[in-house]
Amino acid sequence: MKKSITISNVQSWKQKRKFAVITAYDASFAHLFALNGIEVILVGDSLGMTIQGHNSTIPVTLKEMIYHTRCVRRGAPSCFLLADLPFMTYTTWSQACDSAAKLMRVGANMIKLEGGSRLTGIIKKLTIQSIPVCGHIGLTPQSVNILGGYKIQGRDKDSAEILLNDAIALEKAGIQLLVLECVPIELAKNITQSLKIPVIGIGSGSYTDGQILVMQDILGITDKHAPSFAKNFLLQQGGSIAMAIQLYIKEVETGLFPSIQYSFH
Ligand code: KIV
Repeated sequence: MKKSITISNVQSWKQKRKFAVITAYDASFAHLFALNGIEVILVGDSLGMTIQGHNSTIPVTLKEMIYHTRCVRRGAPSCFLLADLPFMTYTTWSQACDSAAKLMRVGANMIKLEGGSRLTGIIKKLTIQSIPVCGHIGLTPQSVNILGGYKIQGRDKDSAEILLNDAIALEKAGIQLLVLECVPIELAKNITQSLKIPVIGIGSGSYTDGQILVMQDILGITDKHAPSFAKNFLLQQGGSIAMAIQLYIKEVETGLFPSIQYSFH
């Protein structure tokens, strides 16, 4: 049996190598991804868009996240599995602990939640209860109605400083990984170098420790417009999903992806 990937493995990569992460929502794709070298999978609440056809992640429920996390874990027993706490399931620390426990019981190794310094109290409580936490700052899709759309974050000096301070506060509170979505490449570099924990970027340039993409974007099956930072690796590989995944991993590890074409300044 393949050895399970642990948080210690993932954290050690910060000093050693870049790593590729992908979203998955079911057992068959999770199995295929693991077979082709993927070590870390996110059961993202992006499933609200990719699987359910909504135009945001807001309608996704905890019950649905539990169902998909269970499916992915069956397909990829050895991968390190992150699962999203969906919208309004971590408004208090006791609600957050309760929601997170349900995802951990069906196979998540770590839960991910969206937001900055305002979450430090909840993160401390979760980690005291042995629930590992991944932060998510920058473009946080659950806040789309506050942000006024899916826009690049941290473009000016003040908002960049807020994001850097958020990242530092979250690390201090106990997160073990951080997802950084849609921020300029220079800010992503600064945040990545300021933290001891691995930073996983999406639409944030090539300086982060890891990259994450939504599986539908990698395979070119996004129903509407794929984001400009996402690359269709299937197109390059003449239609083989296995080869597309292997190319994605190789390009992240060698620093070829994301090139300038897939980054923001
Ligand atoms: O829900 C999701 O898939 C995510 C990634 C895009 C980072 O949060």
